[in-house]
Amino acid sequence: MDWQEYVDEILISPEALQSRITDLGTRISHDYAGKDLLLICVLKGGVMFLTDLMRKITIPHGIDFMAISSYGTGVRQSDGIVRILMDLSTDIRNRNVLIVEDIIDTGHTLDYILRLLKARDPASLRVCCLLDKPSRRQVPIAVDYLGFSIPDKYVFGYGLDLDEFYRELPLIATLRPDRYNQFIGQDKT
Ligand code: PRP
Repeated sequence: MDWQEYVDEILISPEALQSRITDLGTRISHDYAGKDLLLICVLKGGVMFLTDLMRKITIPHGIDFMAISSYGTGVRQSDGIVRILMDLSTDIRNRNVLIVEDIIDTGHTLDYILRLLKARDPASLRVCCLLDKPSRRQVPIAVDYLGFSIPDKYVFGYGLDLDEFYRELPLIATLRPDRYNQFIGQDKT
């Protein structure tokens, strides 16, 4: 089905996304000047954000990926159980690590990743997240670089999926309420 048939509203336009990402890239480039910066992208949702953000970072930096699953396929789990599906290929000891995520919802995923990576002795460990749903938080997380704070609505596009589709959209859309039943129970964002 055409993605537009699922849209309630365009929450964040392509222009607004790119403008904010340019600002974040500028700030990160300034803050990490002269430092050994490693961006860690959390798959799959963070991939669009990472590829745009890294093109706005003007200092040398490395990238790596990890995959985390906090929710089972089909049925939503809200118990905060997080699993590691794919680990980093890089040793992060003494490196300046910046985690790149698409969205913080309950906070369980980032809480798990932060504790996991901190134990590996990076020189520094910070979080860059595109979207935040503060009203959904169950675990407090300090976000160092934030794109947008958004209301508790089901969003998709720009890395975030609707039943694994539409991650490629250049914008963030909210799901039409009359389509909720089709997707509730499969994904929480
Ligand atoms: C989403 C998102 C975060 C996590 C945030 O991932 O990318 O990693 O949920 O939720 P939390 O704050 O409640 O832990 P998801 O499990 O949907 O996987 P995906 O990125 O592969 O779509």
